[in-house]
Amino acid sequence: MLGRLPQFNDPRILVGAETSDDAAVYQLDSGQAIVQTVDYITPVVDDPYSCGLIAAANSLSDIYAMGATPLFALNIVGFPVGSLPLSILGEILRGGADKVREAGAPIIGGHSIDDPEPKYGLVVTGLIDPAKIFKNSTALIGDDLVLTKPLGLGIITTAIKRSKVTESTIDMAVALMATLNKGASEAMVAVGAHACTDVTGFGLLGHLHEMTAGSKVGARVSLSKVPIIPETWDLVRNGICPGGTKRNFESLQGAVVWDPEIHTEAQLILCDAQTSGGLLIAVPKDRTTALMQRLREHKTPAVALIGEIIEDPNGRIRVEP
Ligand code: CO
Ligand code: CO
Repeated sequence: MLGRLPQFNDPRILVGAETSDDAAVYQLDSGQAIVQTVDYITPVVDDPYSCGLIAAANSLSDIYAMGATPLFALNIVGFPVGSLPLSILGEILRGGADKVREAGAPIIGGHSIDDPEPKYGLVVTGLIDPAKIFKNSTALIGDDLVLTKPLGLGIITTAIKRSKVTESTIDMAVALMATLNKGASEAMVAVGAHACTDVTGFGLLGHLHEMTAGSKVGARVSLSKVPIIPETWDLVRNGICPGGTKRNFESLQGAVVWDPEIHTEAQLILCDAQTSGGLLIAVPKDRTTALMQRLREHKTPAVALIGEIIEDPNGRIRVEP
């Protein structure tokens, strides 16, 4: 929808809206640029404190995907004042504050409105060296593709809303979504990579397609190497699938070449809309081992080599068993 944004021409805009990149980057001087992003979501689980943790990790994620360091954040709040107790809002904000503190940044203000449907997120401002910006449009042929969280969070949060999962699955999903992409980002910055994006609403293949289209390359992904939360399979077989995931799947037809062995359930999971998913990193092959070693040291939820960048000026993704 942001494709409708009128263009601005300013040489200090280092990353703008054209390449569907994760955050905006604006140059201050030769050694420093500001990175800024805004993101907010509706509740994905019942517990308000967990919602705050997840929304904040999700909002910080675009800063980490660019390889930047968060400086400070502002709250964005929509809350049905009068129909829900304010103590719930207090728990959401406490979760957000704890997560931003873990990121090493303060929350120093914000804005709230009365809203029939609760919403929470953050504007995050970060700093970056203009020579070390990780964009999503700079992957090169031969790069390996590494993913740092397992897939299935959209399908699982939909199942949570329909009371179709156990408490332990909820706890596991909350822990995954609340995990900052900080460690993944630090590993990537330390080792060096060609391109990065976080995996959120467009799913793994949607965000990978932004990367391949922007970089004018193709990609090959092996389903067997993609980390998938085990509970996801039964849920999707039982017809649980968010609308956003189905829309991703439909909009990617033509962009993805499916091996005939890849059945529909797997196709949906690879397109599953994630809340606060991991980083997808395009790393030159001679640095893959070093990157994966660093990711293990940072204990990222997954350390998975899922495929590679190949030649294809049309940006297509081949999915193999
Ligand atoms: Co993003
Ligand atoms: Co985002």
